[in-house]
Amino acid sequence: MTHDPAIGIHDLSLATTEFVLPHTALAAHNGTDIGKYHVGIGQRSMSVPAADEDIVTLAASAAAPLIATHGSDGIRTLVFATESSIDQAKSAGIYVHSLLGLPSATRVVELKQACYAATAGLQFAIGLVRRDPTQKVLVIASDISRYDLDSPGEATQGAAAVALLVSADPALLRIEDPSGVFTADVMDFWRPNYRDTALVDGQESITAYLQAVEGCWKDYTEQGGRALQDFAAFCYHQPFTKMAYKAHRHLLNYTGHATDEDAARRALADTTGYNTVIGNSYTASVYLALASLLESGQDLAGKPVAFLSYGSGSVAEFFAGTVAPGYRTAVRTTAHQQAVTRRREVDYATYRQLHATRLPADGGDHATAEQTTGAFRLAALRGHKRIYTTR
Ligand code: CAA
Repeated sequence: MTHDPAIGIHDLSLATTEFVLPHTALAAHNGTDIGKYHVGIGQRSMSVPAADEDIVTLAASAAAPLIATHGSDGIRTLVFATESSIDQAKSAGIYVHSLLGLPSATRVVELKQACYAATAGLQFAIGLVRRDPTQKVLVIASDISRYDLDSPGEATQGAAAVALLVSADPALLRIEDPSGVFTADVMDFWRPNYRDTALVDGQESITAYLQAVEGCWKDYTEQGGRALQDFAAFCYHQPFTKMAYKAHRHLLNYTGHATDEDAARRALADTTGYNTVIGNSYTASVYLALASLLESGQDLAGKPVAFLSYGSGSVAEFFAGTVAPGYRTAVRTTAHQQAVTRRREVDYATYRQLHATRLPADGGDHATAEQTTGAFRLAALRGHKRIYTTR
């Protein structure tokens, strides 16, 4: 059910990193059959941040085109969703607010619940716009996924940001009521404050994801949601793209539908394009699936699309959106494809060195290596303060 006025995603813009590591390089390093990466987990490459990129520079790069197109009028809230936070106190969104020159009459906040938080941000944004339909909310999902070198998780890293402009009468997607929600206290994936790589129990995390699929679907139907066969496509959180297939087969099975490969492929194939080559981008992943879908050849105008947002720990939400008529004129296909193709390929040794690089914690004045060719740089760390510059 959509409300009057309809509220949802008016514009979507993505950004990713300067560098990319193909899975062939990882496979050659660790002696893995490439079929495991290309077929087994459905990944071809992963975005690797430069030494002068972080979740702030990615987020600013994703959001800048939205501000360039629409201006900042009406944006009174910026929600920054991330798992890879850079500060325990200050919202990364404040740096983005500054880099983009947004008005001081803005509330800025950071949200965290593993990969799920951007969906919480989207739902909170809808509530704000429903209260005052003249307002817009900038929701930014930005993450760098980092596991230990030589661990099973290494193949499922990545990094990206997606910026969503949420407004009344949206040009891309009208978000519907109801939502199905689910929470369970599980230790499938977590990152204590003293660590900068995630801890994960791989098989447990897959089981927890599938349990969450059941839980939030059950709640969605109890809240009066649509029937499964209504949906033209399903955008799942994709830590690796094969996970979407596992999740969808599980949902088909749970709801008593046939689980043939064709049904899964029809529902998912157009949603995996960006995630296959970017890798896991945690909070951004489910909205990269939406970008792939909207930019595919399918005519989706007026059609309902399903979303399954999962964040380990765990929280999940199943919700629906109807694609707006005329959405094709509002998608940013060329810019998004350039963001992916402009990445420079690194070899395994260079990736490993970037992975091992840490910002000094001594409070001194440290310039970062000038590597990114993007518009925003983390130029230095000075007196424990991150210094950003704009080109
Ligand atoms: N050709 C084709 N397929 C092959 C193959 C080959 N040569 N070799 C192996 N495979 C297949 C396997 O059969 C398996 O497929 P199925 O799952 O369908 O059986 C697949 O490749 C992966 O093989 P393994 O299970 O042996 O791989 P692994 O032990 O290295 O672990 C992983 C894979 C668990 C995903 C690991 O990379 C990991 O821990 N990643 C991080 C955690 C994660 O992404 N969890 C997802 C759910 S949690 C979540 O969604 C939140 C989040 O973002 C983290």
